[in-house]
Amino acid sequence: MTMNEDFPIATLRQGAQGLMIEEIALADIAARFGTPTYVYSRAALTTAFNSWRQALAGREALVCCAVKANPNLAVLSVFARLGAGFDIVSGGELSRVLAAGGRADRVVFSGVGKSRAEMRQALDADIACFNVESAAELDRLNEVAGEMGKTAPIALRVNPDVDPKTHPYISTGLKNNKFGVAFVEALALYQRAAGLPHLRVRGIACHIGSQLLDPTPIQEAASRVLALVDRLAAAGIGLDHIDLGGGLGIRYQDETPPTIADYLAPLLDLTQGRPEALFFEPGRSLTGNAGLLLTRIEYLKPGEEKNFAIVDAAMNDLARPALYDSWHAVIPVQARALPPRRYDVVGPICESGDFLAQARDLAVLEGDLLALLSAGAYGMSMSSNYNTRPRAAEILVDGSTAHLVRERETVESLFKLEHPLD
Ligand code: LLP
Repeated sequence: MTMNEDFPIATLRQGAQGLMIEEIALADIAARFGTPTYVYSRAALTTAFNSWRQALAGREALVCCAVKANPNLAVLSVFARLGAGFDIVSGGELSRVLAAGGRADRVVFSGVGKSRAEMRQALDADIACFNVESAAELDRLNEVAGEMGKTAPIALRVNPDVDPKTHPYISTGLKNNKFGVAFVEALALYQRAAGLPHLRVRGIACHIGSQLLDPTPIQEAASRVLALVDRLAAAGIGLDHIDLGGGLGIRYQDETPPTIADYLAPLLDLTQGRPEALFFEPGRSLTGNAGLLLTRIEYLKPGEEKNFAIVDAAMNDLARPALYDSWHAVIPVQARALPPRRYDVVGPICESGDFLAQARDLAVLEGDLLALLSAGAYGMSMSSNYNTRPRAAEILVDGSTAHLVRERETVESLFKLEHPLD
């Protein structure tokens, strides 16, 4: 397969029939399945996962894919078959992992608001570890495990208070975030956990934020965590694993994130010779550049100040531009010999924030297909039905086969749970 340096999605290239992903023309996918449609590359998913694993070769380590980034069952099953672990944040995500053939004993459960029902479900499945985020959660988990006659494996998610230098909405390791327990309280909380009869202290976890491009904050966080692990050991609390979370960024536009190997090398140095296993929870770096959103131009609307390309995807399909002002490359599926024009690529939703891209020079006509790149993480997973828009279909491409891995929703399927008055 040809890898193309021009696109952040390695398995995307220009072919005779326009833009191709692996061995399939995106135009064929649109003709068969319609638009808007998310398209994922199995080869790109596999390459990303293997890069994590290869960089950790020789170390006792578990790569737990963050399910929230892309929870599609087929995507999860690609990772499950590769031997992945999973990072979940809800009972629903646990059900997905199990339905996709993932192993419960490789699941870590993060999140500040685990309900009793979710705790029961995870204890019942015998997950690897609960990443506990507060004192109250420790007590509740101890109680629920006791009621079930079980012992809950726990790590405390600590908040190392480092600035990840990323978008404020996706930065999670600062003191003023709702996540994790304060560093200064960690020792006392571990001692409390060690004294609770239905908990077993297994590890420590931290996650400082997402789309990290600078590798130094995570190294700083890891150093702080290691110092704490040593203090815990001195206090008689030994740990089995250290979970350094997710967060590694990807290239959307012209960012230069560290490679997976370069991101990990200093962390492996810092932890060299230590007895604890290493866990990671990558999301975006596994799926982000393995997927795109395929959409069709409904109308071109030239204006005095701006030209609009109105497409059939919208902020309900891909919320990131509206939410974080994030940038996704827009590539016409068929190149045209036209002078390019500057467009805002917008959806049909009744909000000015409903844009997918702004000020892009595109040589396009009405009816043309566009690919919005780097949409494999936090794309479909953050989609909604706003404006009663059925959610997009999802396709997983594997060589020359396109698998329909989620059917397009229908308006009827949207009504299913509603009850009009008689
Ligand atoms: N572990 C924990 C505890 C997390 O909270 C997250 C992401 C991850 C792992 C995975 O992080 P990643 O490797 O994907 O950076 N919707 C935002 C991103 C929110 C990230 C939330 N937590 C976006 O579209 O950029």
